[in-house]
Amino acid sequence: MGSKNVVLTSFVLFLTLVTLALIYSLYAVPRVQIIIIQTQDGAFKEQNDGIRYQLNEKTGKQEELKATKEEYEKKKTVQSKSQCAVVNDDHKFDCYPETSIATKEKCEARGCCWQVVQTQTKGLNGKVTGVPFCYYPKDFPGYRTGLKATTPTGFTVALSRNTTGFYPDDVMNLVMDVKYETEYRLRIRIYDPKNARYEVPLDTPKVTKAAPIQRYSVIVSNTGDAFNFAVTRKMLEPGPPVVLFNTSGAAPLIFADQFIQLSTFLPTKSLYGLGEHRGSLLHSMDWRRLTTWNRDQAPHDADTGTNLYGHHPFYLMMEDAGRSHGFFLLNSNAKETALQPDPALTWRTIGGVLDLYMFMGPSPSEVVQQYTEVIGRSFMPPYWSLGFHLCKFGYHSVNETMAVVKRMQEAKIPQDTQWNDIDYMDEFKDFTTGKSKFGDQAGMVNTLHSMGMHYVMIVDPGIGNKKSSSPYPPYDVGTKMDIWIKDSKGVPLVGRVWPGDVVFPDFTNPKAYDYWTQMTKAFHDQVQFDGMWIDMNELSNFYDGSSTGCPGNKYDNPPYVPAVLGGHLNSRTICSSAQQNFSLTYNVHDLYGFTETMATYQALKTTRAKRPFIISRSTFAGQGHYGGHWSGDNFARYEDMALSIPEMLNMNMFGISMIGADICGFHDDTTEQLCQRWQQLGAFYPFSRNHNDLGKKPQDPAVFSDAMKNSTRTALSVRYSLLPYLYTLFHKSNAMGETVARPLFFEFPEDTNTYIIDDQFLWGSALMITPVLTKDTTALNTYFPACAWYDFYTGLKITGSGSRIKVNAPMSQINLYVRGGNILPMVEPAMTTTESRKNNFRLLVALNETGQANGGLFWDDGETIGTHDSGVFNMIMFSAGKNFVSSEVMKAGYTGEKMTLDKLTVYGMLVTPKSVTVNGKGAQFQYNSPVKTLTVSIPLVDLLKPFSVKWM
Ligand code: NOJ
Repeated sequence: MGSKNVVLTSFVLFLTLVTLALIYSLYAVPRVQIIIIQTQDGAFKEQNDGIRYQLNEKTGKQEELKATKEEYEKKKTVQSKSQCAVVNDDHKFDCYPETSIATKEKCEARGCCWQVVQTQTKGLNGKVTGVPFCYYPKDFPGYRTGLKATTPTGFTVALSRNTTGFYPDDVMNLVMDVKYETEYRLRIRIYDPKNARYEVPLDTPKVTKAAPIQRYSVIVSNTGDAFNFAVTRKMLEPGPPVVLFNTSGAAPLIFADQFIQLSTFLPTKSLYGLGEHRGSLLHSMDWRRLTTWNRDQAPHDADTGTNLYGHHPFYLMMEDAGRSHGFFLLNSNAKETALQPDPALTWRTIGGVLDLYMFMGPSPSEVVQQYTEVIGRSFMPPYWSLGFHLCKFGYHSVNETMAVVKRMQEAKIPQDTQWNDIDYMDEFKDFTTGKSKFGDQAGMVNTLHSMGMHYVMIVDPGIGNKKSSSPYPPYDVGTKMDIWIKDSKGVPLVGRVWPGDVVFPDFTNPKAYDYWTQMTKAFHDQVQFDGMWIDMNELSNFYDGSSTGCPGNKYDNPPYVPAVLGGHLNSRTICSSAQQNFSLTYNVHDLYGFTETMATYQALKTTRAKRPFIISRSTFAGQGHYGGHWSGDNFARYEDMALSIPEMLNMNMFGISMIGADICGFHDDTTEQLCQRWQQLGAFYPFSRNHNDLGKKPQDPAVFSDAMKNSTRTALSVRYSLLPYLYTLFHKSNAMGETVARPLFFEFPEDTNTYIIDDQFLWGSALMITPVLTKDTTALNTYFPACAWYDFYTGLKITGSGSRIKVNAPMSQINLYVRGGNILPMVEPAMTTTESRKNNFRLLVALNETGQANGGLFWDDGETIGTHDSGVFNMIMFSAGKNFVSSEVMKAGYTGEKMTLDKLTVYGMLVTPKSVTVNGKGAQFQYNSPVKTLTVSIPLVDLLKPFSVKWM
C-alpha cells in the first residue's frame, strides 16, 4: 500500500472517529439534569424518582440515565454545591459528625457543603460543637418513597435508594410501617424487610387493629419523590394542624448497617428528657450533642452531653398553648442526639432499627402516662423504702456501721435503712461476708430488724474469677451453668473490677435468672437483707475491653463511633464484640443494668416473697418497672446539688420514680452548710439516701453540729409526716403512670415561665419544694404560679401571680408550699416507718380560691406484692367545701392495721368558725386568725368509715 493510501485511510478513520465521538457525546454521554423543585410545604425534592434520567437534547425528552455511577456522583456533587448557599446556619445538618476533624476535602468527598463560619468549641468528648462546617446540601441523594399499602394497623411504605452513601453497607430497601396504635399513640418502624436486624427485646403492647380515632396524622412524601414524612397533631379546635415531627428538608435518612440517622425539625425549643445526662432540665438547642452509651462515669461539670450511666431515648416537648407530646426511639445501640437552634434534632444510632413512638399527650402528665404504658409503669416500692437511707463506702466493720446508726438514734434523726458498700465482702467478692474483718453482718441485720429498721447491701455484677481451688459457689455454679458473657471466640470474657479479675453473668440468658436467684437466696439464708443495691452495671470494667483487649472487629471499631468518652466503645467497659445470649454486646450493652435489675427482681421476689427493693446505677427505658436509680458519683458541690433536681425530674419522666442523688455529695469532703442544705433537699428526693466515698469524712447528719442535726431532723420529720401522701403518689405512679416528683410546668403547662424552672419542683400536684442551692443564702426569689399557695409550716397564704417573690429561707428549714385545692394525707412522724405506721393519720386541707379541696389516700401493708391487683388495699377520697371536710371510702380491702385520724388542719379558712363538729358531735378546735388556719382535734375516727367535719 502506497503512502497516499495510508494518509487517505487515516483521514477517513479520523473522520469516522470524530463523527462517532460527536454522536457519542450527543447520545451516549449523558447530560444529567436533576431538577430540584421546592414543594408547597417548603420541602426540596428531586423531580424524578429513584431511576435517574438524562435529558436527550436532540429529542428534548428525558431518558433513563445510562451514565456510570461515578459520572453521576461527580455531576451530582457539582449540582449539590448550588444547594449549599440556600442553607442558613441554624438549618445546617452536620454531614461530618465524626470526632476526627473535618476538612473541606473530606467533606466534599461526601458530596456535602463546606463553609467555615465561626470558631467552634471542643467538648469533653473531643467533639467540636457549633454550626457545622460540613453540612448536607438540600438535594443530598437518599431514599425515595415507593409503594404504599394499607394494613390493619395503618399503612406501610416501601423505601429504596439506588446510590450508596458514605457509610458502608447501606440497606438499599426499607419498609416504613406506620401503626395507629391508640388514639394518642403512634408507632413507626423503619426496618430492613429482607434481613432481620437486632431489636430491643422490650415487651411493648401488641396492637393488631388501628385505633378508630387518632389525634395525629402521618404524611409521607409522594411515591417516586425523595422520602420524607411529617407527623402532625390533629387539633380539636379550628386551626391549622401543628407539625410535631418533620423530616422534610432535614438531614437525609441514612440506614446503613452500622449508621442510622433520622433528622427532624421541631415545633419549639422546649425540649426535655434524653437521658442520662448532666445539665439543666430544659435542653439548650445551641448545637448540643447528647451521647448515650452506658458508662461508669462521674458526672462532669463542663459538658452536659457526655455519656453517663443510663440510656433513655425519650423526649418530651412543650408546644404552644401548653400542649405537649413525647417521642421515644426504641433502640439500645450506642447513639447520640444532636440538637440545633432551628430547632431541629438528629438521631444517630449505630445499630438496630428505627422503632419510633409518639405520644400526643396533650398534657405533660399524659405524655408520661402514655410513655409508661409502652415501657412499663414504675414499680410499687415497699413503704419502708420511703424512709431515710444511710450509707458510706468505708464502714469497715459492723461496729463502725452500727456506731453510725447509734449516733443517728441519739440525735433523734429518723432513719429506716442502713446500707453497706463493698466493705462487707470477703475480698470484695459478691455473696460473701468478710466475717473475720467485718464482723457479724447477719447479727447486725437482725439487730436492725429488731429496731424496726431495714438493711440493703451492694452487689456488683463482676464475679471473682477464682484462682484458688477452694469453692466459691458464685463462680463455680455460674461456670457450670455456662452463663458468663463470652468473648468473640466463645471463651468467658475476663474483666477487672474490685475483686480483681472477674467474669460477668449474661443476664440476657434466661439461665442467669436462676443462677442469680440461687446466689441471692443462698446469701439471704445467711444475712437477712431487705433490698439490693446493684452497682457497676454499665458494664464497668477497669480494663478497656477485657484482660486480653478486644479483637478490634467491626463491632469493637465500628465505622462510626458516637462522641463517647474515651473515644471508643470499649473504653472502661467490655468489648462490644463480646457475645451475650440475646445478641452481641454491641447491641445489648446498654441493657446490662436493665437485665440485671429484672433478674434481681425475680431473685428478691423468690427469696423474700415481698416487694423487691432495688437501686441500680445503670438504667434503660422501662427499668423503673423493676427498680429505682441514684445519680451516681456526684461531687460535694453546690452545683451538683442543684443539678440533682433535673436528674430527678427527668428520671420521673423516664418512668423511674424512685430516684435520688447521694445527699451531701459522693466525691470530695462535704461542708456542714452544704450538707445541711442538701439534707433539706434530699428529704424530698423520692429516694432519700446520704452516701459518700471511701476516705472521705463521715457525713451522716449526726456527725455535725446541733444546728445541722436540728435542721435535718426537721426536714426528715416533715418527710416522714408526709409519707402517706408520698406513698399515694407512688401508687399513682405504679397504677397510672403519674410522676412522683415533677417539674412546675407539668402542673402549669400554660405558664411558659415555668418551662425553664428546675430549682423548684413538686411532689404530685400539691406540694412545692423550693430548696436553697447556693452558699450563704438565706433568701430566695421563689416563683409562685398563679393560684393560692400556703406556707407548709404556718399556713400563711401566698397568692401566686406567676411571678417571683422574695422570701426568707432560714438555715433551719426548707421552704415548702401547699397548693390550694389539695388535701394531703399525713401521719404523726417517728424515727422509723415501722413506728410511724402505728401512729395516727392527719389531714392537711389547703383550700383554693373558691374554698374547695380534694385528695386521696392509698394504703396497704406496705410490702405485699400486687396489693392493687389483689384488692388488698384501701382507698379513701377526701373533699372539702365551704364549711366541711368529708371522706368517701372507695375501697376497704386491707384491715391489717387500724387507720385512725386524730387531727385536721385547714389552711385558707377565711371566716372564724364558731363551732366545729366531727360526725355530728362537737369537737375541740383552734382558729389562728392572723394566718387563717383551723386546727381540729379529731376524737379518733376510723378512716375506713366515712367521716365529716363541719364548721359554722
Ligand atoms: C461506685 C458507686 O457509684 C459508689 O456509690 C460506690 O460507693 C463505689 N462504686 C464502691 O462500691
